[in-house]
Amino acid sequence: MIDIHSHILPAIDDGSRNLEMTLKMLEESYKQGITDIAATPHFYISKDNTESFLKKRNNAYDAVCKETAGRNDLPNIYLGAEVYFFNGISHYDGLEELCINNSRYMLLEMPFNKWSNKVLAEIENIIFDRKIIPIIAHIERYIDFQNGTDNINNLFSLEVIIQANASYINYMFSRRKAIKWIDNNIIQILGSDAHNMDSRAPNLGKAYDIIRKKLGESAVSRINDFGKEILNI
Ligand SMILES: [Fe+2]
Repeated sequence: MIDIHSHILPAIDDGSRNLEMTLKMLEESYKQGITDIAATPHFYISKDNTESFLKKRNNAYDAVCKETAGRNDLPNIYLGAEVYFFNGISHYDGLEELCINNSRYMLLEMPFNKWSNKVLAEIENIIFDRKIIPIIAHIERYIDFQNGTDNINNLFSLEVIIQANASYINYMFSRRKAIKWIDNNIIQILGSDAHNMDSRAPNLGKAYDIIRKKLGESAVSRINDFGKEILNI
């Protein structure tokens, strides 16, 4: 099974603190049935540019590869980024290189406030001018901010991919809505968004189990097939 959103690379963002934690997160993911995982460290334009980010990310990845060489009991890792929205993002030169595994799919973290029309216009420009398909990270975390607006529906009407975190399905109180949105194919892809081994540990296996139980194997297959398309595997 596929995990399209994680912070498993060591010492690059607020995710895994070191190689040891990375190994534990990978082992736990694999135990839960995750075979392929996108490493998507945070990218903030206020702190970084693409060149320096890629250098840090690739170094962290190389260290993990060295440590795990010869092991076949861990998920395959694919490189990407979780790009935080910024004004002018649709004109930013380094965007293509931040896509997942050299695809045209880019994990995009939206602002945690009420979006202006300008924000949605930038998303449209990313799609039409740059031919990049945004994967909207953890949709569930923006909904309350958009109360009283049509922003969520307007976002859904664009050619974006909607990602939810496993916790949205795992939490009893949000499960019903999450399952409904998966059933309606509004939520198309899932991620653990795992950051560590305690407060935000790998938890996607449980979410896939719930989906299997509520919607059947076909729903799990649909999500995974789409994950494979994004990762180009
Ligand atoms: Fe994240």
